[in-house]
Order: sequence, then structure tokens, then C-alpha cells
Amino acid sequence: MTTSRTRFTAPQRLLHWLMAICVLSMLFIGVGMVSTVASKYLTLVQIHKSLGIGILLLALIRLALRICYGAPALPADISEPMKLGAYLSQYAFYALMIGMPLLGWGMMSAAAYPIVIFGVLHLPPILPVSAKLHTLLWRAHFYLAFVFFALILLHVAAILFHKLVRRDGVFETMAPEIRRAKPEPK
Ligand code: HEM
Ligand code: HEM
Repeated sequence: MTTSRTRFTAPQRLLHWLMAICVLSMLFIGVGMVSTVASKYLTLVQIHKSLGIGILLLALIRLALRICYGAPALPADISEPMKLGAYLSQYAFYALMIGMPLLGWGMMSAAAYPIVIFGVLHLPPILPVSAKLHTLLWRAHFYLAFVFFALILLHVAAILFHKLVRRDGVFETMAPEIRRAKPEPK
């Protein structure tokens, strides 16, 4: 759904930037934790699980806001393939922001690992215990992390193209609002 507004609403913009930081941190924490055998591993897994479930909750709120408020229309002179690319990448982002945490949660459930987040909250398993299922979900979580990273790189490249080459206001739809002070009346 598109709206006549020229910018995303303030809560949508806040969530976008907050989640961009969280998702990028998650990708690096994920790779960092599987590359270490030191005791840091357990701390990193704890942070990874808690932040991951946090991302799931924020993504659901963001999806609800997107359905309620829609998105500003893309510039009219954008070619059809570019429009299609923009829409597909947005669907893919929402699928990954919701799917990755669910895969992580599902993979731990299938391995019968306890899922404790923020040090106190025990989450129930969402899937039955099964070694086969665990391997399948582990692989999906692993490969989709690369897809997520590649999509973010493409997204940033596309945004830079809009901002620096086309200068068509697409970047401004998500940029923080900067209010200029009104000049004092003389
Ligand atoms: C947006 C959310 C998430 C992202 C982007 C993400 C990303 C990643 C990445 C990049 C890795 C490293 C993959 C590798 O190189 O082997 C990883 C591993 C892992 N993730 Fe996630 N993850 C997310 C959510 C979650 C959640 C919610 C859980 C659990 C509740 C979880 C559990 C795990 C576990 C247990 C591993 C380590 C598997 C192993 O030791 O081999 N992840 N994740
Ligand atoms: C993990 C990183 C990121 C994710 C998951 C992400 C996701 C998204 C999604 C789903 C949208 C569509 C609007 C919405 O429903 O909220 C969007 C729009 C936007 N993003 Fe990102 N983003 C990320 C990082 C960035 C970065 C680093 C920049 C700046 C260079 C950026 C700039 C924008 C802009 C300007 C828009 C509005 C134009 C459009 O809809 O394409 N994003 N982003």
C-alpha cells in the first residue's frame, strides 16, 4: 500500500534505523560466536538469542505499522524492473527479519536446547526434538544469513544510487527529519 505522504512516519523511521543497527550487529555476533571456542562463545550466544527474539518482536510491530501506514510512493519516473526490485527486496527483508529468528528458535527447539533470553525468560520449544530437523534448520539459518547480508549490501548500494546519482528524494523518505530554526523576526 502506498500513501500520499512523502516520508515514512516517525515510528517507522525510528524502527528502521534501530533495527538496521540490531540486524547488522546480529550478523557479526553470529559469525563471531561460531568462530570462537573461548568461554566468550556462551556470552555471545546469550546476546544472539536475546537480541534475535527482540528483532522478531520489533519486526512484527514494524509489519503492523507498514500495513497501517503504508509507504511513500516511489518516484514516477523509476523503471518497472527497478520498481519490482524495490518491492521484492522489501518483501525479502520482512521475510528475513521474521524468518531468521524463527529459524534460530526452531533449530534450538529441535536440538532440545533450553531457550533462555535476557537471562530470565524461558521460551517454550516451537518444534519437536529431531536431529534431522535441527540439521535442516541450522543449514537454512546459516545460508540465509549470507542472503541477508547480500541483500543489505544491495539495499545500501541502491539507496546510494538514489541519493547520489538520481537525487530523487527516495533517501529522504527514511532520513531523520531535520528541522531548521526559523529566523527571528526583525
Ligand atoms: C535476525 C535474526 C538473526 C540473525 C541475522 C542471525 C544470524 C546468525 C549468523 C550470521 C550465525 C552464524 C552462522 C555461521 O556462520 O555458522 C548464527 C548462528 C546461530 N544462531 Fe542466529 N541469527 C538470528 C536469530 C537467532 C535466534 C533468535 C536464535 C535463537 C533463539 C539464533 C540462534 C543461533 C545459534 C544457536 C547459532 C549458532 C549455531 C552454531 O553454533 O553453529 N539466531 N545466526
Ligand atoms: C540491516 C539493515 C537494513 C534493513 C533490514 C533495512 C530494511 C528496509 C526495509 C524493509 C525498507 C522498506 C520500508 C519499511 O517497510 O520499513 C527500507 C527502506 C529504506 N532503507 Fe533500509 N534497511 C537496512 C539498512 C539501511 C541502511 C544502512 C540505509 C542507508 C544507507 C537504509 C536506507 C533506507 C532508505 C532510504 C529506505 C527508504 C526507501 C526504500 O523504501 O527503499 N537502510 N529498509
